[in-house]
This record gives sequence, structure tokens and C-alpha cells, in this order.
Amino acid sequence: FPLKALNTFGIDVKARYFARFESVGELQQLLALPELQHLDKLILGGGSNLLFTRDFEGVVLQNGITGIEVLREDEDEVYIKVGGGEVWHDFVLYALEKNYGGIENLSLIPGTVGASPLQNIGAYGVELKDVFHELEAVHLQSGEVRTFDNATCRFGYRESVFKNELKGQFVVTSVVFRLSKKHTLNTSYGAITTTLQEMQVQQPSIQDVSAAVCHIRQSKLPDPKQIGNAGSFFKNPEIPLAHYEQLKAEYPGIPSYPVTPETVKVPAGWLIEQCGWKGKVIGNYGVHKNQALVLVNYGGASGEHVRQLAYDIIASVEEKFGIRLHPEVNIL
Ligand code: EPU
Repeated sequence: FPLKALNTFGIDVKARYFARFESVGELQQLLALPELQHLDKLILGGGSNLLFTRDFEGVVLQNGITGIEVLREDEDEVYIKVGGGEVWHDFVLYALEKNYGGIENLSLIPGTVGASPLQNIGAYGVELKDVFHELEAVHLQSGEVRTFDNATCRFGYRESVFKNELKGQFVVTSVVFRLSKKHTLNTSYGAITTTLQEMQVQQPSIQDVSAAVCHIRQSKLPDPKQIGNAGSFFKNPEIPLAHYEQLKAEYPGIPSYPVTPETVKVPAGWLIEQCGWKGKVIGNYGVHKNQALVLVNYGGASGEHVRQLAYDIIASVEEKFGIRLHPEVNIL
């Protein structure tokens, strides 16, 4: 089964088997099939955070569970249950239309609602965990349904229990979000403030913030429909303050964000750019010209080549700065 159209990197690989489910019941029926019991399983959402480096010998299961349903609401808040197969940005558009706040900063993130908790998607000062109430997931081995709240998901920066202890064990079938009816905007991110000023907005609404975020993303990040990519390829590394001070002496322009009193985060894009990778084109793949954190496939690149590029980048950043980058994208 061809996977090229099902991964935003546009890598041309195949899966041995493919199945799509549109309800929890359908998923449970699939999981109970004797033929499927011993196969490796890969749950596919939007395919926007993975890099295939070879054919997948197991079964790819595509989450097609849709639906957006208000569970309960009061004057201030609304609890909304969303099917795991819904496209994330479609849910953002729904919220903007109903004037429910909390996810406007997360506009235009590729992928599905079911995948959003796995890496605790985040952008422009907001993370999924800030609006997350609970999720329902199906255990791949037993078919049992389990509920996870904010604490049991163990969210961190681009992390959750589903990328660690429970990796590959659960399918997220739906997520309940807690959105606001009385909005507290998060415009702390410098670029949002600047863009809102350029838009000449005085009293921004959640719709204005979303428009600003869309504008910023479109100016920096390649549209996967045009150029294959999976967003940020690496996580921004967190380093000890002492190490940062050393680097700062040598590279006064090095940016940083405080994390704890003893550590800071350094933008991986800056480190990669300093090593000369930004905009580099190697045949049909390379490093994006506007954002060095994004690796791109111009068409026909092999996943193996892109992975090698990632390793070369990791090695050169480590040599120059003594900082080890870690991929954010799932490499398969
Ligand atoms: N920078 C460079 N050169 C570059 C790119 C970045 O010097 O080529 C430096 C600049 O100093 C810039 C700073 O890095 O001010 C931050 O850049 P940007 O605002 O683009 O954010 P980022 O840290 O590179 C993170 C997320 C993005 C998210 C943005 C906005 C990670 C791994 N990435 O990128 O998330 O959209 O912040 O909040 O944390 C994604 O995960 O796929 C993703 C796109």
C-alpha cells in the first residue's frame, strides 16, 4: 500500500497492510483479527511528524474517527469532545467560528487531533496541555478503552507518556478540550505583538491572534502541500546556564529562553544556521531557507538521505557548540 500521499515529507514508501477505522468499535474489531495480532502496527494521523526511511512491514492503521461535540458548558468555559481523526486546524477554525478561545495560537499546525497530545503540540507561547482536559485511548494489545487526564498524560516540552513509557501501545480515539468563552489572550511571543501592530489591531480578538499566527507561520514555514517537510525536525535543546555563559562569551548573539534558574533553551534553528546549513540544497532535499530547523524534500528524496542529513547536522552542531540535538520527528 503506497504511503507517499499519507506522510507530509512525501517519502515514497509502502506498507504491507493498511486499514482505516471510523469508530472505536471498528478499531476494536480490527485489533481482534487473528491476522493482525502479530503484525507491527503504526497509527497514522496526518503523517506530519514522521520520516519513513524504509517500507513498513506491518499494518498501518489510519484514524478516521470524526466528530466535534460540546459535552457541557457554563458562562466561562466549554468542554468539547473531538474525534481523533479530525484535522487539527479544522478544529481551530470551528473554535474561532464559535468564539471559543485557547487554541488560536496553535493555528495552522499540521496533523490531527488524535496526534496532538502525543507530542503536546505547541507554538507561540501556548501548548496543548494548557487546554487539554482528558483523552480516550484504545490499548492495541487488549482493545480496552482507557481515559487519561492531564496528569497521567505526563506532558512536557514536545513530550507525553505516549512517546515514552507507553510508546506504541495506545491509539488516541478522542480528546476533550476545555476552551474559554471569556478570553485571556497570549500575545507574549514577540512576533505576534509585532504582527498585530502591523495589522493595526488595537484590541485583538482570538480571530486576530489566529490571523497573526497564520501570517507568521506562512512566512517562515514551508507548506507541506508544496514542499515535503515535517515542521521542526529537532527539539530546541535545554542546556546548563554555565555552558550558555561560556558560549555567550564566544558568540554574543546567541539567543536563549529561560527554563529553570539553572538551565536555558537555545533555539536549534540558530545553532544549525551558525553551522552554515540554512538553505543548503543537496540534490532533491535540504534545509529550508527561512527556518533552519526544518528539513525539506523537494520531491523524490529518500528518507534514508534525509536521515543522513539530520545526523550530519547533529554532528556539526555538537562539534561547534558541544550541544547534542535530538530529533523531534519520529524516524521509522
Ligand atoms: N533562529 C535562527 N535561524 C533560523 C531559525 C531560528 O537564528 O533559521 C532563531 C532566531 O533567533 C529566532 C529563534 O530562533 O528568533 C526562534 O525561532 P522561531 O520563532 O521560528 O521558533 P523555533 O524555536 O525555531 C519553535 C517550535 C515551532 C513553533 C515556534 C513558535 C520547536 C522544536 N519548534 O520553533 O514548532 O512553531 O517555536 O512557537 O520547539 C514544530 O514543532 O514543528 C514547530 C514548527
